[in-house]
Amino acid sequence: MIKAAITGTGFMGSAHTEGLRRAGVEVIGILGSRPEKSSQSAKALGIPKAYASLEELLTDREVEVVHITTPNRHHFQSVQAAIAAGKHVLCEKPLAMNAKESAALLKLAQEGSVATGVNYNIRFYPLCQEAKERIAQGEAGSIHAINGAYLQDWLLHDTDYNWRVLDSEGGSLRAVSDIGTHWLDLVQTISGCLVTEVLADLHTIHPVRKRPVGEVRTFSGKTGDESALEPVSIATEDLGNILLRFDNGARGCLSVSQVMAGKKNCLRFDIGGSRQRLSWDSESPNELSVGHRSQPNQQLLKDPSLVSRGAASFVDYPGGHIEGYPDSFKMCFRAFYDFIKAGDFSAPASFATFEDGHREILLCDAILKSHQTQGWVAVPGS
Ligand SMILES: NC(=O)c1ccc[n+]([C@@H]2O[C@H](COP(=O)([O-])OP(=O)(O)OC[C@H]3O[C@@H](n4cnc5c(N)ncnc54)[C@H](O)[C@@H]3O)[C@@H](O)[C@H]2O)c1
Repeated sequence: MIKAAITGTGFMGSAHTEGLRRAGVEVIGILGSRPEKSSQSAKALGIPKAYASLEELLTDREVEVVHITTPNRHHFQSVQAAIAAGKHVLCEKPLAMNAKESAALLKLAQEGSVATGVNYNIRFYPLCQEAKERIAQGEAGSIHAINGAYLQDWLLHDTDYNWRVLDSEGGSLRAVSDIGTHWLDLVQTISGCLVTEVLADLHTIHPVRKRPVGEVRTFSGKTGDESALEPVSIATEDLGNILLRFDNGARGCLSVSQVMAGKKNCLRFDIGGSRQRLSWDSESPNELSVGHRSQPNQQLLKDPSLVSRGAASFVDYPGGHIEGYPDSFKMCFRAFYDFIKAGDFSAPASFATFEDGHREILLCDAILKSHQTQGWVAVPGS
């Protein structure tokens, strides 16, 4: 059994621990922001070792793979140190705070001494894999439109707070980088079309938020106590709309929001081709809608016997047995650890590579520049 350790003890620290165990990987240690947080999490999650520092984790010879699940600000330094220590690295998205950092990490990854990946887990929903297979087989025809949204409501009120709202912790963009990059990674992977130019309009509805005194775990704010709050200025966007041009000539649009009441975690896309339209929504992830012009539309329910062979390898349960968000972590980790076992770290990967992670940051930079200049901006390198 390959042995892994995790940095970060919040929402993703728990999700990675569960996903790794379900993928047959032993989680032997965890690191929190302080030694007592490491110990508390190790105890709560049944993990044997609680590290006092990143150095202690990286000098543990039993650790072969490091999962980085800390806030974005820490990704660059942790990934760099983990690669230098000879550990394989799976980093949470976004890979880094800016393109300078992500380019440096890509260079390290390209040296090929260890396996590296970014956790764009949404690729691994079975029916997203099915959409990818169908498009690759030409069933949808040539793709001319890619539209959709990623909408949440957990930051709707000015009393909703998390480290992400601060540019110093998460980067200059928030809704776009935090959830928009999931959508961009997903539709580009599924369609095989790359975004080459963007036109963005971003907006912050709460330029001042009320911050609770102390740390707030992701998605936990809704149950918070408002008694001890302090005002904090916010420079990151709550919502945005982005027009897209793709390398094959397709056009698209993405709407992102973390302030859309009632949308809990809704990533949806419509991919329009010359023969079919494929649509999916993460809030009903076991259904894929196939739209036709000259025959009734179809609703495909996730069932290993009804999807293509490629997609079936990402299904563990029979039809009618729901697979969802936690399963996408298990499948992503399975792909990453199979890649480690195969040993060729320059081989094509089904999970997001550091090249993909770096490209997402370049996309974010182009989106920010477009918003600032109010014009179309080309994505560097495309
Ligand atoms: N793939 C996904 O679906 C997904 C979902 C949510 C978050 N994320 C990403 O995961 C990362 C973490 O987000 P989260 O939602 O779990 O945040 P969170 O606030 O719930 O948890 C972050 C944890 O990191 C700990 N921490 C802070 N500094 C640390 C340090 N120096 N060393 C060790 N631990 C430290 C905090 O104490 C906290 O427990 C972010 O990069 C985010 O973008 C990915």
